[in-house]
Amino acid sequence: MQLAVHREANPSERRVAVTPRIASLLATRDIEVVVASGAGDRASFSNETYLQAGATVTESPSGDVNVLVGPPPPEQIEGLPEGSVVIGFLDPFTNTDLLTAITAKKLTAIAFEAVPRTTLAQMMDALSSQATAAGYAAVLKGAAAASHFLPMLTTAAGTIPPAKVLVLGTGVAGLQAIATAKRLGAVTSAYDIRPEAREQVESLGARFVAAPTAEDAATEGGYAKEVATDMQQLQLAALAPVVAESDLVIATAQIPGRPAPLLVTTEMVTAMRPGSAIVDIAASTGGNCEATVADEEVDINGVTVLGPTDLPSRVATDASEMYARNLASMLELLVVDGELTIDLGNEIMAGACVAHAGEIRHALSRKAMGIE
Ligand code: NAI
Repeated sequence: MQLAVHREANPSERRVAVTPRIASLLATRDIEVVVASGAGDRASFSNETYLQAGATVTESPSGDVNVLVGPPPPEQIEGLPEGSVVIGFLDPFTNTDLLTAITAKKLTAIAFEAVPRTTLAQMMDALSSQATAAGYAAVLKGAAAASHFLPMLTTAAGTIPPAKVLVLGTGVAGLQAIATAKRLGAVTSAYDIRPEAREQVESLGARFVAAPTAEDAATEGGYAKEVATDMQQLQLAALAPVVAESDLVIATAQIPGRPAPLLVTTEMVTAMRPGSAIVDIAASTGGNCEATVADEEVDINGVTVLGPTDLPSRVATDASEMYARNLASMLELLVVDGELTIDLGNEIMAGACVAHAGEIRHALSRKAMGIE
């Protein structure tokens, strides 16, 4: 069985789907790994390290299974063998051009966005591993952008109080942001619409902000739903004084398939002290802050608002290692005794496989394509 590791199409993507460590693990499972020359360069994995791991390096690989981190352009799909498998973050609920190319080639498409959030599927949960990387990188970026130390410093030149860091949205990325800000010595507080988040926030040593929560805020899958306008007004009113006194805000609140909820208005930004910063992880879906512009730095009265969309890429080596580990777990389901085995009766595979044999399978992908 041949596994092709493709070069990433997005120029700001530094991660690679398979690292040399995972390439050598796959070799022990009789999986032949072929890597596109230079695919690992930006994650600090040279061609040489792949060769040492027992992989082959070629200019344009193609295999029974084709792996990437981000969605490939439709042209790249056209070059893959008909009926082969493609695995990655495929943007399967909005990228209809890609879905069309996938079905035309009768590919089996496995999207990490569609892996069920269950205990059994945790090893393959690349959404979580990459959100962990994003939460960590967001705090480092914010710490560099704010004009404050994060820890308290007691020096001969005086005592500097610790910075106040507020984390909005405490899913995987938000909890990692709290943990990172704590390690850097900041005084942290956090807020999420889901009441069950309080316990997780407090267990990390952060204060849970007294803003409204809703028992029915989450879907069965644990994801948050959009809130009604009157609830949003209550949230904004409760958050305004906490945002105003924060030196750094890390905003991570998201609603799958919907625009990110607004939690910080431009008026709230203007009430912050100059030298403060906001890092809006939700920028790619519109942002939690009204002033956020994706991948740009906005200055509002001396407050820096950042909307980076490439945070896991900023820790590309370790983020790739985690992603490759998730991929190796997915391959355990797919490759049985060295043979490619697509078992759509398996609960995880049934969820993650968004297209197979020319048919779109996932309900959200079908909806995006206007089917049914
Ligand atoms: P996400 O990236 O979709 O959203 C981040 C956070 O934003 C969530 O905690 C959400 O409640 C919050 N949020 C959304 N709208 C909000 C609003 N209006 N105000 C305040 N906060 C708002 O979340 P992620 O990290 O993907 O996690 C989603 C859920 O899945 C969580 O309940 C998490 O615990 C669960 N999960 C379960 C796993 C498992 O069982 N294996 C693995 C990972 C996550």
